[in-house]
Amino acid sequence: MKFVCFLLIICCAKGLRANISNKVFPPSFKFGASTAAYQIEGGWDADGKGPSVWDTFVHKGGVTVDNSTGDVACDSYHKWEEDVQILKELGAQIYRFSISWPRILPDGTTKNINQKGVEYYLNLIKALKANNIEPIITLYHWDLPQSLEENGGWLNPVTADYFGEYTRLCFQLFGSYIKYWITLNEPFIQCLHGYTVGLLAPGVVNLGEGIYKCAHVQLLAHAQAYHIYDDEFRDSQNGKVGVNIPYSWMGPKDPNNSLDVEATERYFQFQCGLFANPVLIGNWPQLVIDRVGNLSAQEGLATSRLPELTKEEIEFINGTSDYIALNSYSASLVSYANDSTPLIPSYLTDYNVETSMNDSWPTSTAEWLVSYPEGLRLALNQINDRYHPSEIIITENGWSDDGQLNDIGRQEYMEGYLNSILEAITEDGVNVTGYSTWSLLDNFEWAYGYTQSYGIIKVDFKDPNRTRTWKDSATWYKNVIENRFITK
Ligand SMILES: *[C@@H]1O[C@H](CO)[C@@H](O)[C@H](O)[C@H]1NC(C)=O
Ligand SMILES: *[C@@H]1O[C@H](CO)[C@@H](O)[C@H](O)[C@H]1NC(C)=O
Ligand SMILES: *[C@@H]1O[C@H](CO)[C@@H](O)[C@H](O)[C@H]1NC(C)=O
Ligand SMILES: *[C@@H]1O[C@H](CO)[C@@H](O)[C@H](O)[C@H]1NC(C)=O
Ligand SMILES: *[C@@H]1O[C@H](CO)[C@@H](O)[C@H](O)[C@H]1NC(C)=O
Ligand SMILES: *[C@@H]1O[C@H](CO)[C@@H](O)[C@H](O)[C@H]1NC(C)=O
Ligand SMILES: *[C@@H]1O[C@H](CO)[C@@H](O)[C@H](O)[C@H]1NC(C)=O
Ligand SMILES: *[C@@H]1O[C@H](CO)[C@@H](O)[C@H](O)[C@H]1NC(C)=O
Repeated sequence: MKFVCFLLIICCAKGLRANISNKVFPPSFKFGASTAAYQIEGGWDADGKGPSVWDTFVHKGGVTVDNSTGDVACDSYHKWEEDVQILKELGAQIYRFSISWPRILPDGTTKNINQKGVEYYLNLIKALKANNIEPIITLYHWDLPQSLEENGGWLNPVTADYFGEYTRLCFQLFGSYIKYWITLNEPFIQCLHGYTVGLLAPGVVNLGEGIYKCAHVQLLAHAQAYHIYDDEFRDSQNGKVGVNIPYSWMGPKDPNNSLDVEATERYFQFQCGLFANPVLIGNWPQLVIDRVGNLSAQEGLATSRLPELTKEEIEFINGTSDYIALNSYSASLVSYANDSTPLIPSYLTDYNVETSMNDSWPTSTAEWLVSYPEGLRLALNQINDRYHPSEIIITENGWSDDGQLNDIGRQEYMEGYLNSILEAITEDGVNVTGYSTWSLLDNFEWAYGYTQSYGIIKVDFKDPNRTRTWKDSATWYKNVIENRFITK
């Protein structure tokens, strides 16, 4: 009763007319924060860990804007107990982190298991459980064992088999503690930047085919992990295995222009659909099959640059997700672009649209990241209507700035996006069951090195101790978690 009165006063004081219950997160909704192994762990060659494509990539030099590496990063390989304490103090109910494949399998294969690596993750998982924090594990967050890359990496179908064996081992070792697994982090982004345009590790440039070949192998890898869990572990462990989809809302620049509407649909299918469609509906999106097939023919190729999925593959991949792990940050407006002549065989010309931002959207330090909270509600509805997931967890959503402790921009961003999620739940009936912000800590932001800060906790990268300091947004978020409604 007291609680209700308290809420009433706050709501009336702020002049809100909305139904109070609509402003409160459902009791089962879980809050938390996310990280990834290469971005925080450091200990790149500690205790028998093998090199990953990211170790090799950054050690070449000149691939990150500040020439930095993740060799030490936040040193979470040594400071994990402090990280768990921070999560506990924050009141986090979930922690999404990733397992570094080469930390437990130095050459990527199960021939040689690194016990020290296994212990590291077991200790972390047990400490989280002891503090009532549910671990959500990403099995793979871009740090492929280097030896597998030398064998063709994500362009070689055998990597899907190695991934299957690796995930079986993870289910065996850690599965009794884990309720939520994510297979591959943002396959679209890794295939695009790692194997098509080459800006992220392993830095392969193959504009015409890279993304499609990589997507094919990653889809098979994802499906293998799902079936292994389903066949061998689900009955005893009773967890869920989900696909991770990066999707930020996109809409037509001019909603009244049918060409812009068509371009938006095309862009959606080439990004989100490329992975979501095979996993959640079956096969590549028809639009993508037609478009790449047609352009390939015009380029004089005998077969499409998009590999055809066999009937067996379509069935093997279709329906392999118990929930959707959605990463969503930004928003963009899409407009139609004419095809250029002559045609250049390239993923970029396959989708061929122009994108822009609305000038009224606040911009972060990352040029691609703007704040348009309503976009997340729209995106959740799009994902829900197209793919009908039984459950969605927001596994990444966050803001980049220069690392200031007084990070009002991040707080306003989170406030807007959390409100938008709440509306999707209460007004639209989308089953969003959790929110894990990116990121718990300032960390190694891939090609941006340490020049962009996403953490609610600051990390001093000049200090050998990698001292952690709470930012204002963390204090604010702790309050939201405690009260289960969005405070100003
Ligand atoms: C990074 O290294 C490249 C060469 O490897 C050099 O040209 C560039 O100036 C360096 N940048 C910084 C910020 O140190
Ligand atoms: C679209 O058309 C409607 C009705 O014709 C009009 O009210 C609206 O302003 C138009 N929107 C844009 C963005 O042009
Ligand atoms: C995917 O699976 C669903 C559910 O079983 C089924 O309705 C659909 O036809 C399948 N898609 C394809 C392309 O086979
Ligand atoms: C290829 O493009 C032509 C001309 O636009 C169109 O008529 C045809 O339907 C397209 N084919 C496919 C497979 O998309
Ligand atoms: C596309 O090409 C047509 C015909 O040349 C032209 O009328 C139209 O303005 C072009 N559209 C864009 C968006 O460039
Ligand atoms: C840009 O944002 C303004 C303010 O929210 C809105 O009125 C306008 O319709 C938006 N423009 C587009 C193209 O979405
Ligand atoms: C939402 O997902 C949770 C977790 O899977 C499930 O328990 C609940 O029944 C779902 N709610 C709806 C309305 O589907
Ligand atoms: C690093 O931490 C150790 C142990 O907590 C402490 O003794 C030392 O003074 C710290 N060093 C710096 C530079 O903060």
